[in-house]
Amino acid sequence: MKKTKLLFDNNKEFEMNIFEGTEGEQAIDISQLRQNTGLITLDEGYQNTGSCKSAISFVDGENGILRYRGIPIQELAENSTFVETSYLLIYGYLPTQKELKTFSNMLTENSLIHEEMIHFFDGIPPHAHPMAILSSMVNALSIYYPTLYSEAFFSITFDLVCARLLSKIRTLAAYSYKNSIGEPFVYPRHDLKYTENLLHMMFNSPVKPYTLDPEIVQALRVSLILHADHEQNCSTATVRLVGSSQVNLYTSICAGICALWGPLHGGANQQVVEMLEKIRDEGLTIKEVIENAKSKDNNFVLYGFGHRVYKNYDPRAKILKQLVEKLFNKLNIEEPLVEIAMELEHAALNDDYFAERNLYPNVDYYSGILYKAIGIPKEMFTVMFAIGRLPGWIAHWKEMHDTIPFKIGRPRQIYTGATLSHYIPIEQRG
Ligand code: ACO
Repeated sequence: MKKTKLLFDNNKEFEMNIFEGTEGEQAIDISQLRQNTGLITLDEGYQNTGSCKSAISFVDGENGILRYRGIPIQELAENSTFVETSYLLIYGYLPTQKELKTFSNMLTENSLIHEEMIHFFDGIPPHAHPMAILSSMVNALSIYYPTLYSEAFFSITFDLVCARLLSKIRTLAAYSYKNSIGEPFVYPRHDLKYTENLLHMMFNSPVKPYTLDPEIVQALRVSLILHADHEQNCSTATVRLVGSSQVNLYTSICAGICALWGPLHGGANQQVVEMLEKIRDEGLTIKEVIENAKSKDNNFVLYGFGHRVYKNYDPRAKILKQLVEKLFNKLNIEEPLVEIAMELEHAALNDDYFAERNLYPNVDYYSGILYKAIGIPKEMFTVMFAIGRLPGWIAHWKEMHDTIPFKIGRPRQIYTGATLSHYIPIEQRG
């Protein structure tokens, strides 16, 4: 084991182990730091802090590499299905044919939501954001279904809770959409595969039957695979932190959905398309937008650009861009937003500000345009991301609970408030 030392002014030293991952990344183990030196580390935004060891996905941000359980994302996007990729992430290996069939059957058997739960939708106003609905409904699953880490712990298996979540999130997402447009819910079909079923429940209607297009199905399937995991991002770290209190899996996932919603995280896909529409509708020039994004006098950022880890082209964005081009060509869709997006990307990539800071398109830059072509409304973009990310969240929750014993997540802080002061009765305060 490699070691490193911390040297203090008084010549005292503290020795720490250096932990090395399978891809050569190194971390200083500071777990004994406070006991031995009285110091803690301070790293706002966790820019240099590893919160766990994980064997699920590997990201090399400098070289634009993403692998799930060692397999390059490009290979999975080309050859796998979302259900198979989910199995890979959650259970750690590619399933045999028999295992995949059993897993798929469990998803089919668990695709309905409890009929009583449907009444929840009655109280939701029509313009509620689908992410608010989805997070609430996922948490509500813990009302209707026995949960891991509850009194029913011994009578329920992880596999069943996992299948329920993966399957029902799709039904809940589609129902949220139907609720928002005031159409009747469409029940899942046992003969349809995962992605087909999602499209069927979202777009089929008694007055306008929806025909599944294989190109659209494949585009959505690949998009779900690309979103399936991404190590310790804001939402995944949230799922782990919340789950570390041993609260049930549904509630931990609900917390992840809430974290994902923000515009700096998964909510950026909606922001990107709104930004492109603004450019189109208000006739803004690309130069104006770039200058606005560079300015420190406002809060505007170029949505879909930049990433905490990637200092190179996000490999998911690369695949999504190709997918957008392919789908638009195949379906013969004229979409001015694609042209604007490409022009904006070109301008940013050739601008010193973006080059110096290594800002490249991230996964959210082209996903919204792809969803738009599929017919998915803007408010549902982040819901699509949440469905895709679910297996990753579940895998991280499982990995943490499989590590025995695991610790509750509890960061420290450096207090900067008032020193000791005393209560003053109200009549003496003036
Ligand atoms: N547009 C303009 N400037 C940017 C952008 C952007 N999209 N992203 C980063 N910068 C600038 C910052 O202002 C900062 O400049 P400075 O050094 O002059 O202060 C520098 O680049 C470094 O950026 P940070 O904000 O420090 O990087 P951080 O790792 O904290 O943030 C983040 C990453 C939140 C993704 C950021 O790049 C951003 O806001 N991007 C736009 C929102 C977005 O697309 N989010 C989705 C990310 S992918 C995902 O979560 C699934």
